[in-house]
Amino acid sequence: MAMKPLPQAVVFDLDGVITDTAEFHFLAWQQLAEKLGICIDRAFNEQLKGVNRADSLTRILQHGGQADAYTPAQRQQFMTEKNELYRQLLANLSPADILTGILPLLADLRAAGCRIGLASVSENAPQVLASLGLCNWFDFCADARALTHSKPHPEIFLTACRGLGVAPAQAIGIEDAQAGIAAINASGMYSVGIGATLAGADYRLNHTGELAWPDLLAHWQAKQACPTPITRS
Ligand code: BG6
Ligand code: MG
Repeated sequence: MAMKPLPQAVVFDLDGVITDTAEFHFLAWQQLAEKLGICIDRAFNEQLKGVNRADSLTRILQHGGQADAYTPAQRQQFMTEKNELYRQLLANLSPADILTGILPLLADLRAAGCRIGLASVSENAPQVLASLGLCNWFDFCADARALTHSKPHPEIFLTACRGLGVAPAQAIGIEDAQAGIAAINASGMYSVGIGATLAGADYRLNHTGELAWPDLLAHWQAKQACPTPITRS
C-alpha cells in the first residue's frame, strides 16, 4: 500500500495564533487613534491584523479621514508611540500566555519530523517568542525587518519556506488574519485559518484549542489526494 504523503513544514503566524498579542496591538492602536480623534473598534481592527506597523497607521488615518494630514516625521512619531504602548502591554508576557493547543501541536510536529517556521510581520516577534519561552521550537523565523511587503503579499511565507528548505506546496501555514490567509494562499501553501469569521482558508477552526495534528494531517492529505479541480471554460 502506498504511504500517504506528509507535509514537510508548518509555518505559524504569531500574534493571535501562538499568543493573544493581537489584542495588545488593538489596544495600543486604539489608544493612539483616540489621541488623533479617530475611533476604531474591533470590527475595524480585523483589517489591521497581519498588516505591518506603517500600513496599519495608513489604514487608521484613512479611516479617520486624515490620510494626508501628517508629515512623514509625525507618522514616524505616531508609530513610535504605538510601539511603546504595545511594548508596555508585553511587559508581563510569559509561557502561561501561550494559547491552548499550540504546545501539543509543536511537540507532535517535532515528533513527526515536520519543520517548524514563524511568519510574523511584527518587528517585536523575537521578543514575544523569547518571553513565551518558545525560541527553541522554531527551525526558522522570517525577519520582519527584511521584508519588502506586508501580508496579504506572500513574501513572508515564501521567505519562511525558503529558510526551512521546503517547497510551499509541501507546507502548511496557520493564520488568524484575513490578510494572512490571502498571503498563505498566494504562496501556494495549504492554509489553516483560526477564527470564526475567516474566509478562504483550506481548513478553518474557531480557536487554537481545536488544533490537533491528526486532524490537520488528515485534512492536508485529503487536499493532496483531491486538489481543487481546474475549471475550464
Ligand atoms: C502583526 C500584527 O503580526 O504585526 C499586526 O497582526 C501588527 O497587528 C504587525 O501591526 C506589526 O507589528 P509590530 O510589532 O512590528 O508593530
Ligand atoms: Mg496574527
